[in-house]
Amino acid sequence: MEITPSILTADFCRLGETVDEAIDSGINWLHMDVMDGNWVVNRTITFGPALIKSVRKRAGPEVFIDCHLMITNAEETWDQYVEAGVDMVIAHIEAVDDFPKLISNLHEAGKMVGCVLNPDTPTDDVMGILSDLDLVLVMSVVPGKGGQSFMPEVEQKVRDFRRAIDLQIDEGGKKTKLMIDGGIKDHNAAMVSEWGIDIAVVGSGLINSKGSISENLRSIAKSLEK
Ligand code: DX5
Ligand code: ZN
Repeated sequence: MEITPSILTADFCRLGETVDEAIDSGINWLHMDVMDGNWVVNRTITFGPALIKSVRKRAGPEVFIDCHLMITNAEETWDQYVEAGVDMVIAHIEAVDDFPKLISNLHEAGKMVGCVLNPDTPTDDVMGILSDLDLVLVMSVVPGKGGQSFMPEVEQKVRDFRRAIDLQIDEGGKKTKLMIDGGIKDHNAAMVSEWGIDIAVVGSGLINSKGSISENLRSIAKSLEK
């Protein structure tokens, strides 16, 4: 299971060093949490395309960057994130009216697209577009901030997507990736990996005052080896 840091809990005045530290520790996928002060329940604003553009410049062309759009107007603004240099746009099924259109827009722009669903959104809301998605993201916290507690009740949703994706691949379909986001630490990373997760987003479990990113990454990697 791959680990990608959410930089949300980073000190934004030291963001360049945090990006360097993450890449030096072997990370090659960055998860950028975009919030517009409107869509998430606690009305938080984080950052937009301008900051992502700087992170792309610092990280270089090889690092994979996704943006997790927790915004009201992803269908109108997806191209700003493409222009800022992301490889993948992950949009909320709850916030997008015409997801197939968003998928074709992004694929035509040569980019990947993911669909993310909140803990209380049923998998059925996404199954109909699964075969066209590069990634499905199951939220294991209510979107809005880092450092929240993991919600184990999403297990069945993860297992349902795992089964559906494996079936899709067996039938020659897209190798859609399965991602989880929220509350992942070294005590539950192995569990979600066993559920069938391909990539786990880790924010406060990687970027915190307890240890360096590489120390925190090592402790998660060790928990996965058991
Ligand atoms: C929450 C974000 C998550 C969050 C993860 O709205 O989408 O990516 O930053 O942070 P932790 O791992 O601390 O829950
Ligand atoms: Zn996220």
